[in-house]
Amino acid sequence: MATELATRVLHSLNDASELPLASSEAFPDVESTVLKGALDSLQSREMLVYKTIDREEPILTEEAEGIVREGSHEAKVYEAVCVAMDGIKISELPRIVGAATAKVGQGKAFKEGWIKKDGDRLLKKVASINDTTRDQLQLIKAKQTTPEPALLAELKKRKLITLQKRINFKINKGPKFALEVVKEETDLTAEMIASGAWKDKIFKPYNFAALGAHTPSGALHPLNKVRSEFRNIFFEMGFTEMPTNRFVESGFWNFDTLFVPQQHPARDLQDTFYISDPAVADKPRDDETGEFLAEYWENVRGVHEDGKFGSLGYRYPWKEEESLRLVLRTHTTAISANILHKLAKNPRPARYFSIDRVFRNESVDATHLAEFHQVEGVIADYNLTLGDLIGFMQEFFQKMGVHQLRFKPAYNPYTEPSMEIFGYHEGLGKWVEIGNSGMFRPEMLETMGLPKDMRAHGWGLSLERPTMIRYKVNNIRELVGHKVDLGFVESNAAVRLDRG
Ligand code: PHE
Repeated sequence: MATELATRVLHSLNDASELPLASSEAFPDVESTVLKGALDSLQSREMLVYKTIDREEPILTEEAEGIVREGSHEAKVYEAVCVAMDGIKISELPRIVGAATAKVGQGKAFKEGWIKKDGDRLLKKVASINDTTRDQLQLIKAKQTTPEPALLAELKKRKLITLQKRINFKINKGPKFALEVVKEETDLTAEMIASGAWKDKIFKPYNFAALGAHTPSGALHPLNKVRSEFRNIFFEMGFTEMPTNRFVESGFWNFDTLFVPQQHPARDLQDTFYISDPAVADKPRDDETGEFLAEYWENVRGVHEDGKFGSLGYRYPWKEEESLRLVLRTHTTAISANILHKLAKNPRPARYFSIDRVFRNESVDATHLAEFHQVEGVIADYNLTLGDLIGFMQEFFQKMGVHQLRFKPAYNPYTEPSMEIFGYHEGLGKWVEIGNSGMFRPEMLETMGLPKDMRAHGWGLSLERPTMIRYKVNNIRELVGHKVDLGFVESNAAVRLDRG
């Protein structure tokens, strides 16, 4: 019982005069964690003070125990040789002392200069010997010595001792030392006050250093934390959030409005998830009036098929069925198209963003899943140039702590020019691709009815990438899906992107 052990400690301490009491001698039978519990509680009452000393103690192996009992191999060989004045025959040694002892002991006895060879016989060379190995092991066993490092290493190498970790406590009396452990009150009760009993009680002191109990609470997923940082950046730059609550889109909004031709590889089954039930969408309607967007529909067909608004078009027969197929949206640019089309009713400078999930039929690996979150931004204004886009990107990514950017020409069916964005990642020490961007094509904007001198540029990036870099996650499965460690989600600090 705990109090029994406490009383035992106090009594031993009382008997041990003023010198510190070493736990290994006084309580060899008590496990160190149990002893520590008792010492902690007594120390908190100032009845004793103690210090922990971690030591590695040498323990004798079975072979070493044999040496302590019977002498070392070399000493046994020497004794065997001593039986007669003319020594013994070398070939007889194994029979007398055993094969193992003969093998190890003979060499050692030679090395020590105890024996010598004479023809096929072994003779003694000295009158008497000191079996130091045995003496050393005996001392170690009796705990009268801690071997110095060189000897320790040698005995370890000869497999005569192993080291065992031992926690030892040096214990001294404390200012409130006593032989009895008095029960400390933890509560001052109404009864104690009424009866006056409180005057004779000893109260447990408050422990102001105690850590609070862990309070279970909800935690935001790292993706959500980074998402909220991105939202703040967008809001402080004057952006409005687009409604993205539609994972399923028609081919029309996901591709055709963006001037993606119907034969484009991005529309292949290999890249896009098509919905089978229902498989077909209604024709596009005005969100407010519910009316079929007949003119827009025909303009989209026209710009693809024969060209319009000064464009030559793609010159292929545009199929309604293809446009009405339902897909899991492959990018949130489908939402941007929808918003820009609405803007055409009342064209004016505008900034929009969204952060939501998109789906691609990709092969899954350590950094790719078939779904991810896209961060998307769109800026519409009069007479925007590529310089505006580059300048804006610099400002935007600076707010995420990325200070050096590089732009690489790229291709998107809906933007011209298009640029991949690379950022220098200080932590990784290399350039990483961080986004895709471009100026939306007139085939897209004019078809919507936006004025000729109104330009729009847009960009997109994944939310997962910066989150993985920020939280040092190498495998996306540790961030998303059933393998996510909830402890990781709970314990990660809120993110603060290094705002430049
Ligand atoms: N839709 C593009 C993508 O999925 C991102 C993008 C958006 C590019 C807007 C240009 C303009 O990578």
